[in-house]
Amino acid sequence: MTRVLSGIQPTSRPHWGNYFGAIRQYIALQTHEQAFYFIADLHALTTIRDARQLREFTHDAALDLLALGLDPAQATLFRQSDVPEVTELTWLLMTVTQMHLLEKCHAYKDKKAKGLAADAGLFTYPVLMAADILIYDSDLVPVGLDQVQHIEVARDIAQRFNSMYQREVFVLPQPYVLESTAKVPGIDGEKMSKSYGNGIEIFEAAKKLRKKIMSIKTDSTPVEDPKNPDADLVFALYKLFADEAQQQSLAARYRAGGMGYGEAKQSLYDAVMEYYAVARERREQLAADPHTLEDILQTGAAAARAKARKVLDRAREACGLMRRGQEGAPCIPT
Ligand code: TRP
Repeated sequence: MTRVLSGIQPTSRPHWGNYFGAIRQYIALQTHEQAFYFIADLHALTTIRDARQLREFTHDAALDLLALGLDPAQATLFRQSDVPEVTELTWLLMTVTQMHLLEKCHAYKDKKAKGLAADAGLFTYPVLMAADILIYDSDLVPVGLDQVQHIEVARDIAQRFNSMYQREVFVLPQPYVLESTAKVPGIDGEKMSKSYGNGIEIFEAAKKLRKKIMSIKTDSTPVEDPKNPDADLVFALYKLFADEAQQQSLAARYRAGGMGYGEAKQSLYDAVMEYYAVARERREQLAADPHTLEDILQTGAAAARAKARKVLDRAREACGLMRRGQEGAPCIPT
């Protein structure tokens, strides 16, 4: 079976763009593939410098995924930092990673171009990511376009390690570029993005959600005039949440005239509340039961570690370090 793996950085609360652009697709993959998903808290350390905030975001990211349908019986969900083997492998990989490979990686390059000082964590971020991928023998890595470069770095590092030690230690991963056909516009019509501040959070409180929706940009066609649904932002968003029949019925109301944008926005609000109703309820239940969440993460981490241990041992042995048994003790070579 194909091993699918991806990491989710817990650096912000997810918005609709994250849902349709990534989360929904991760969840869909769990049914047919062997999926490993983790909350990339170690990576988040390069941007979040507040312990409480990191803990909260990490916890929330796990809640969000589970509420939205990630099923721990099908997919393995864990915290990156609960698998310390990953940081150990990072070092081994670092010793075969050429500087120039990292110098052209965009996160570091962009920061440098802005004249900002980058720390070694940001610079070596792609090596940790390579370790994340390689340590589970991942075949496919679903990511957005901006992360494809990092998968290529992971492949380069894997190839270099394999050829240096003349063994097939690592599986070469492939990027699986997430579909962005469902382009999700933000409330100003630009692509929905945290950095533009135009997003609507999936689990926004009902009142705030309504306010956000009411602030979506529309044109100034008077209420009584017919309107073109295909040129309107509210309708574009409505299409994400409503079924075909609902879409046709709202489109007809646009074209007929006599309906203001306020009403269209109310329809959008209702559709969104319905779409995420189950997820909202599930999230509340999970949030009220921290032990269940922790159990899920610990079970996930145990499964992930068992796999990680084996691959790390392959790497340790290939480069001349002692292998370690499941208990962590060195094994005498046979
Ligand atoms: N860097 C990724 C991002 O910002 C998150 C990530 C960390 C990741 N490790 C990974 C993604 C391994 C895929 C595979 O989105």
